[in-house]
Formats: sequence, structure tokens, C-alpha cells
Amino acid sequence: MAATRDKALLTVSHLTKKFGGVMAVHDVSFAVYPGQIVAVIGPNGAGKTTLFNMITAVLPATSGTVQAMGTEITGKRPCDIAALGITRTFQNLQIFKNMTVIENVMTGAHVGMNTNFLWSALRLPSVKREEAATLEKAYRLLTQVGLAHLAYESAATLPYGSQRLLEIARAAAANPKLILLDEPMAGLNPQESRELVRIILQMREAGMTFLFVEHDMETVMSIADNIVVLDFGEKIAEGTPKDIYNDPRVIAAYLGDEEVVV
Ligand SMILES: Nc1ncnc2c1ncn2[C@@H]1O[C@H](COP(=O)(O)OP(=O)(O)O)[C@@H](O)[C@H]1O
Ligand SMILES: [Mg+2]
Repeated sequence: MAATRDKALLTVSHLTKKFGGVMAVHDVSFAVYPGQIVAVIGPNGAGKTTLFNMITAVLPATSGTVQAMGTEITGKRPCDIAALGITRTFQNLQIFKNMTVIENVMTGAHVGMNTNFLWSALRLPSVKREEAATLEKAYRLLTQVGLAHLAYESAATLPYGSQRLLEIARAAAANPKLILLDEPMAGLNPQESRELVRIILQMREAGMTFLFVEHDMETVMSIADNIVVLDFGEKIAEGTPKDIYNDPRVIAAYLGDEEVVV
């Protein structure tokens, strides 16, 4: 058992993505182990989202490999990745605004089903029992993210910060082993960010593993076990928050970024 526990959930090896002449991700390797919270950081345009898109099969890699739970993902579709135990949220929020809050979470439990098919299938008696379990589970996840009291509201009426939490509840509904969060704190106020940190830590306590992109260094330093730093598509450093905080290459990459902004 000990050996199985130590197996990587995700192994990224020499992953590369070229968009025409742009080397968005170049020769990036790292692994994520069960129970870890791993952060991917780096200046804007460093390749973080592209990396997530390759891991979740939204984009094919130019070269290199991704293994999810030991299975090579090349040639798989995004819904296959969810079935393998990896789900994600998006940098630009993607929730179903024409559904209720709880329906949004329930769609996450049915990975690989399109929503029209899902809602017509729900009328069949054969799926009713399973649906009761899905409903219960969705409600439990909403309780976990503090949105249970809004379960039957239209998702469109939620404030932005709550929609971000809803997206995480939906990503968790598929019983994933690993959740990828692309800038989950973007647009949240400090109180909402603290709440999100609490939820992530609580979900990790319950056995979840996270890989997340985040700009807020304080958050990254406080919750990440391991940090992968990208700059211009290359992995320039990897290590604990303490290692990264003192790494001259990382400091240089961020100072460089600030100079561009100023
Ligand atoms: N679909 C695309 N087509 C062409 N270039 C892209 C595409 N997506 C991203 N890029 C480029 O790849 C680089 C990395 O982008 P991205 O992964 O979004 O960075 P990050 O998420 O770190 O800000 C950038 O130079 C960006 O302009
Ligand atoms: Mg991005």
C-alpha cells in the first residue's frame, strides 16, 4: 500500500507547446503526488494556462507526455481526463448560468455526458436512484463551500466570488483525485480569498490533491507544498515555498515582470 500511495497522480514529462513561432511551454517536467497542494506560478504569458490545457487534453502537446494515474493522456479527450480522475476550473469562469446552483454541481458528477442528454436521461426511472445520490452529494459539496442555502437559486444570480466557489464544487463532484484550479483567487476580495484557502485546505484534509495557478504570493506561500515556477514557457525553479522565496532566478523573473507593468 505504501508504494501505491507514493505513486504520482500526475507526471508531466518534457512537455512542450509551440503556437507557430511562440514557445508557450518548453520541456517542462514535474509530478504531483497524492495529498499535495502544488502551485504553478510565473509572470503573465509564462505558459501556465497552456500547461493546464495540455494536462486536461484541451490542447494537444507539441511534444512530451502527461500521465494521469499512470495512464498516458495523448489522444484522449477532455471528458476522458475527468474520467481518469482529473477535473479543473478555468481562468475565465465557466458556469451554466441557465441552471440552478445545485444543477451546476450535478453536471460535474456526470463527466462525459452532454447536458441535454443528461437532463433527458434524468427522467428515466432507471437513473432516479443514482440521481438521488448525486443530488445528495451535490448538496454536501455546496455545504462544504458554504453555498447550500443558495442551492435552488439561479446560478446567474450569485455574486462573482460565489460563482468561483460553485465552479470548485462542480469540479469536485466527479470524485476526482486531482483538481486543477487556474487562478481561483482572481477577482476575489481578501475575505473571499481567505474563505477559498480554507475550503481548499479542508478538501485536502478530506483527501483531495490540488494543482493551482495563482498570482497572490502570500496565498501560494501559505498553502503550497511544492511550487513550480515558469518563465517564458520554461521551468526555472521548483521547490518548497522557502526555496522559491529565496531563489534568485524567481526574484529576477518577477522583477522583470514588474518592470514591464510599470
Ligand atoms: N491559443 C493560442 N494561440 C497562440 N498563442 C497562444 C495561445 N494560447 C496562449 N498563447 C501564447 O502562449 C503564451 C503562454 O500563454 P498562457 O499559457 O496563457 O500564459 P499564462 O497562463 O502563464 O499567462 C503566451 O505568449 C500566449 O500569448
Ligand atoms: Mg493563464
